[in-house]
Amino acid sequence: MNFRGPRQIRLDRNRPEPEIKHPYDAIVRVTRSLICGSDLHLYHGRVPDTRVGMTFGHEFTGIVEAIGSGVQKLKVGDHVLVPFNVACGTCPHCKQELYGNCNESNPEATAVGGFFGYAHTGGGYDGGQAEYVRVPYADVSPTVIPPEMDLENAVLLTDVVPTGYQAAEQGGIQKGDTVVVFGAGPVGLMAARFAWFFGATRVIVIDHVEYRLEFARQFAFAEAYNFRDMKDPVLFLKKTTDYFGADVCIDAVGCDGTGSFLQDLTGKGLLLQAGDATALHWAINSVKKGGIVSIIGVYGPPWNLVPVGSLMNKGITVRANQASVKRLLPKLIDHIMSGRINPKEIITHRIPLEEVSDAYRMFSSKLDHIIKPLLIPPRAHAI
Ligand SMILES: NC(=O)c1ccc[n+]([C@@H]2O[C@H](COP(=O)([O-])OP(=O)(O)OC[C@H]3O[C@@H](n4cnc5c(N)ncnc54)[C@H](O)[C@@H]3O)[C@@H](O)[C@H]2O)c1
Ligand SMILES: [Zn+2]
Ligand SMILES: [Zn+2]
Repeated sequence: MNFRGPRQIRLDRNRPEPEIKHPYDAIVRVTRSLICGSDLHLYHGRVPDTRVGMTFGHEFTGIVEAIGSGVQKLKVGDHVLVPFNVACGTCPHCKQELYGNCNESNPEATAVGGFFGYAHTGGGYDGGQAEYVRVPYADVSPTVIPPEMDLENAVLLTDVVPTGYQAAEQGGIQKGDTVVVFGAGPVGLMAARFAWFFGATRVIVIDHVEYRLEFARQFAFAEAYNFRDMKDPVLFLKKTTDYFGADVCIDAVGCDGTGSFLQDLTGKGLLLQAGDATALHWAINSVKKGGIVSIIGVYGPPWNLVPVGSLMNKGITVRANQASVKRLLPKLIDHIMSGRINPKEIITHRIPLEEVSDAYRMFSSKLDHIIKPLLIPPRAHAI
């Protein structure tokens, strides 16, 4: 696929196949890829330095077609899942397992590491909504898919499963906690489901898309409420927690969070802030004093109007990061293989790669009860 400008995704049949550029590269022939809520920030033109001609896609599996002379762990023919972080494996951040914060893969950015298919802000690496991808540092993150694992579960391990897990983990959830998750997209759904794994006894999901709320009840066993039905979601959450507040609030929305006129005006209308931060406002205001707010939603550029006064006065701990996929893989592979979670339940649409522009349109407008669309390249249907 080829980005032509905001809301314009084209199929590109003439793109040359990527080549090995460095001894640590591999070329992977994509077998499955997914479109992510993060891709919508790109699609809507909200991420700085998203260049025309880029191929998106940071969630993919593929078969190794070629390796550079320095690659030792992978061999041609391996079927791998490729975490969305491009990580060198040797810098001080990677050494601390902060693979989302690699210092080498995106040296010109001060805030983020490298990501596949995520603008030049993310290092300018072409992504996996394609037939072939160049995968740098091939020995570091790509992981051979266990033979018994369903390919759809494997591709979800490249982002959404670890990201949802990390959202819950960052929340420091204790036994008996009430956890509120803002956003019933794939990431929020996973975070809500994993909140139980950490000992929550009440999990509440807030969104405004009814079919997603229904999905949260089924998939994440959560109470789910539509914020459009409430006058004030913060008051609602206070009342339902005996005016105590939630122990942990998770922002799985990021910028664009519909809901507040003021936020819409300053974010989308006047462009005074990097997207509206409604869900983050609600999270800060409805968590208990001394509680934890976990931010997993993405906020484009680094500035935004947030209620920092409440953060301080309530003694709130904020924990946030890009997911560190490689760190979490062994634990999550075990959860899937032992049947404690079957992530592929969230895949609602299986779409040929050739129809990628329709897939984006459908996902962006939340048509046809879409939750997570999977793209299948033409030569991978049989796999
Ligand atoms: N930190 C990471 O590593 C990481 C990785 C993947 C995705 N993300 C981010 O996580 C966020 C969610 O991703 P997704 O794939 O689930 O996206 P998505 O767009 O499918 O889901 C977001 C959901 O939030 C809902 N929403 C909008 N405004 C809201 C509000 N004010 N309150 C409650 N809900 C609201 C939408 O209706 C939607 O259902 C995105 O910002 C994405 O960029 C972060
Ligand atoms: Zn993603
Ligand atoms: Zn690194």
